[in-house]
Amino acid sequence: MTDKWNIKDNVKPKDLEGISNQQIDYHFETHYKGYVNKLNEIWEKLPNADRSKANQNYSEFRELKNEETFNYDGSLLHEYYFQALHKAESSVPESVKKELEASFGSYEKWVEDFKATGVAFRGWSLLVFDLNTGKLRNIGTDAHNNNGIWNAVLILALDVYEHAYYTDYGPKRAPYLDAFMKNVSWKHVEERLNKAKKMYEIFK
Ligand SMILES: [Fe+2]
Repeated sequence: MTDKWNIKDNVKPKDLEGISNQQIDYHFETHYKGYVNKLNEIWEKLPNADRSKANQNYSEFRELKNEETFNYDGSLLHEYYFQALHKAESSVPESVKKELEASFGSYEKWVEDFKATGVAFRGWSLLVFDLNTGKLRNIGTDAHNNNGIWNAVLILALDVYEHAYYTDYGPKRAPYLDAFMKNVSWKHVEERLNKAKKMYEIFK
């Protein structure tokens, strides 16, 4: 059976502070949906790709497998990104602060590291829960499907590609990072974190 990724229109945020509806609209309608559509196209082609011609220098099978993870992770990360933006839920719960403090020293140190990761990489700054160690980590990536660590649960995704902020801020990334932090749905983060901690109890 062919896999299919369904577009999640219900995660599209609106009326955020410092990130305009126009910016969100371009990002959601063009970029996010573009990844989902290409992923579905790849999944339609993959079952019929000629496995006997698989080749590491170039083959249709290799290209499809390569772009499968690019578009899969592109779809997934964007859903996490949009879902985590909700101005009304933007105060940080004590339980989340405590977890960030245990892994980074303090909430402020985590913010500093998370934003610096967003400046140092071309694609994403990602807060993940590492099931191997039970610690939170910030991961920077240049593309959707590189630099991940195995057995880590995604908690919060910050998109730093130019397409995420150029409509509002042109080449200035710093004010966009501040705007993102003002709109984080900490309720959403807390839920993800609690699920990850339960998984860690099973996993360790
Ligand atoms: Fe994006």
